[in-house]
Amino acid sequence: MSEPVFPAVRLRRLRRNEAIRSLVRENSVTMNDLIYPIFVEEGLDNPSPIGSMPGMFRIPENKMEAEIKSIYKDGVKAIMMFGVSHHKDEVGSDSWKRNGLLARMVGRAKDAAPEMVVIADSCFCEYTDHGHCGVLSEGTVHNDHTLANLAKQAVIAAEAGADVIAPSSMMDGQVQAIRSALDESGYEDISIMAYSSKFASCFYGPFRSAAGCELKGDRKAYQMDPFNGREALRESLQDEEEGADFLMVKPGLPYLDVLARLRERTLLPLVVYQVSGEYAMIKFAAAAGALDEKRAVRETLGAFKRAGADLILTYFARDIAREGF
Ligand code: PBG
Repeated sequence: MSEPVFPAVRLRRLRRNEAIRSLVRENSVTMNDLIYPIFVEEGLDNPSPIGSMPGMFRIPENKMEAEIKSIYKDGVKAIMMFGVSHHKDEVGSDSWKRNGLLARMVGRAKDAAPEMVVIADSCFCEYTDHGHCGVLSEGTVHNDHTLANLAKQAVIAAEAGADVIAPSSMMDGQVQAIRSALDESGYEDISIMAYSSKFASCFYGPFRSAAGCELKGDRKAYQMDPFNGREALRESLQDEEEGADFLMVKPGLPYLDVLARLRERTLLPLVVYQVSGEYAMIKFAAAAGALDEKRAVRETLGAFKRAGADLILTYFARDIAREGF
């Protein structure tokens, strides 16, 4: 039996007005779906605007409490924390010190807003003097030495009160290493949000100046080739096998195909990261009068939902909390 066609079918009937359109809308975005990434800098006195990300600031560590409370009061329910370190070394050891920046900022965030979900980005590029995501050996990042450090870092973050650990260094076996370290230390209830399909992308450019982690060279020996889709599925499914509780695709808009294909293959909650460059493109285009910011945000977040994302990491989360969607 074939489907009836025009003139019996008129698809425009369900688009006649907003009331009808909202009845048949297939996806929605609420604050329950959004995670807000923030930057915390030690040794800073006042919030410092991030030039490449208009509207975003580095939060001074010593003014964190008030800022975190206000973010929570605005309606943000989950944050991803990035540290801007003044104590960098070859391996990023500050990140696994009990009184290092990572532990302090996680602890202070949790104290300021105990009900808010605090997610610790688990990587080294913010804490190494060379800017790579792990331990360098013969000009490249040594996978297994980095795993050992990731394990220490994850336990420190959990001890400080992190609800979720989000490994983003793209080391092989990172989810397994973190899962066993957490379990051995009694943190079997702390979940892992794996940056599982993370591409070597130019769209992280603004983040690197925001987090003070510019590097010589690139991350192509560990982050994924933007031309590869099947490999992204393998990466993600490996992370699921290793015990990830969430999978992530990053960046967002250029990788909607990966998101949609992964949605067909996993039952885990799926996260997408609308990264700094995607944020900057919308902000600068809107400032130049080339497009309407609110509509661009709505359309891109709607696209993530349509492609299968459950959760969205976005620098627009706080604006949405304040002004609606
Ligand atoms: C750390 C990390 C990066 C981002 C999130 N975690 C930078 C990178 O991999 O170069 C980028 C986020 C963004 O661009 O918004 N590895």
